[in-house]
Amino acid sequence: MKVAVLGYGTVGVGVYEMLQAAEGLEAGPVLVRPGKENEAFKVSRIEDIVGDPTVDAVAEVMGGVEPAFSYAMAAIRAGKHFVTSNKALVAAKGVELNRAAREAGVSFLFSAACGGGVPILHNLARAVRTDEILSVGGILNGTTNFMLDQMQSTGKDYADALREAQELGYAEADPTADVTGLDALRKIMLACAVAWGVLPKEGLLNEGIDSLSAADVKDFMARGFVCRLVASGQPAPEGKVSAYVEPVLVRAGDAESAVLKNYNMARYEGRNAGPIAMIGQGAGRYPTASAVLRDLSGICVGEAAMFPADCVEGVADNSAAAHAYYVRLPEACADAFPVREVLAEDGETLRVLTETVSVQKMHETARALRKANNAVFFAAVREG
Ligand code: HSE
Repeated sequence: MKVAVLGYGTVGVGVYEMLQAAEGLEAGPVLVRPGKENEAFKVSRIEDIVGDPTVDAVAEVMGGVEPAFSYAMAAIRAGKHFVTSNKALVAAKGVELNRAAREAGVSFLFSAACGGGVPILHNLARAVRTDEILSVGGILNGTTNFMLDQMQSTGKDYADALREAQELGYAEADPTADVTGLDALRKIMLACAVAWGVLPKEGLLNEGIDSLSAADVKDFMARGFVCRLVASGQPAPEGKVSAYVEPVLVRAGDAESAVLKNYNMARYEGRNAGPIAMIGQGAGRYPTASAVLRDLSGICVGEAAMFPADCVEGVADNSAAAHAYYVRLPEACADAFPVREVLAEDGETLRVLTETVSVQKMHETARALRKANNAVFFAAVREG
């Protein structure tokens, strides 16, 4: 099967390299920006790929919704299988792509869009055929996990940890999506769609680590906590799903605390299978390229889809989710939450543990406090 690659950045270079050695696969042209066609295999016009009858499949690793979506539709309509690592694309247009690919009789796979090298979506898509999925989630962003691990293990500050994650090729071109939890949110959106056939587009909540300071990390460590950015997805009533991302303080002995560097821990729970967790590199050239290659080789043995045929866009309902939270906030805002315990007082800054608060209220209140120029950090506390 001859594969054209759209994009020649961190992941594109890895995909092209791996195609050279992959059995049953052949590297076709690679789409680059105009002016960058400095080698014979590089082209800058999408027509040279979708109009090439020798190309059987297109692997898109450019990122962003446009022009990736237009290129994807052109490839699918030209009868080419479509594989992507682009979670922004699948989160925005996955239902449309799923429909178009099924109509055209081609495959549409996107393992690399969630978990990097970790085969969470692949396994989930197989599990739903014979099991009822009760929940999905876990650590789904390599950049922030790397940063949290570095800040904790070396005392690095936030900016240095982010710079290093960027240098290692883990972060998105614009790392805002990583540090605000949006990247992990897109991944949990995909997992929800695979698990329950609902791609939630509204009512989603994401809190990242962009408010975190080195002093916060020091305080967690003194209390025996480790901070991780965790995504959660669950079915909700009336065909909705619960889907949100937020920092969580786990105990030093909990499984997530052992997930270091750029690793992810993706998990799901099946009614019959019980809880399953997969740990591996969630970002980086070769881990992500390996997931693209797995999908391409899967097409050769008939794998066609990850979303169910009747997958629809839907709404998230997070009203049933609630936790106790660790909150760092100005003393003057202390009555914004029901405080169970004041953990520390430093000048006009408080660190508190709240009573159980709904996820919706926590995210909304923090947003309102920040709008009024208050510095707030919060993380759910894993109790018990
Ligand atoms: N920026 C993403 C991450 C890349 O850090 O997880 C892999 O999806």
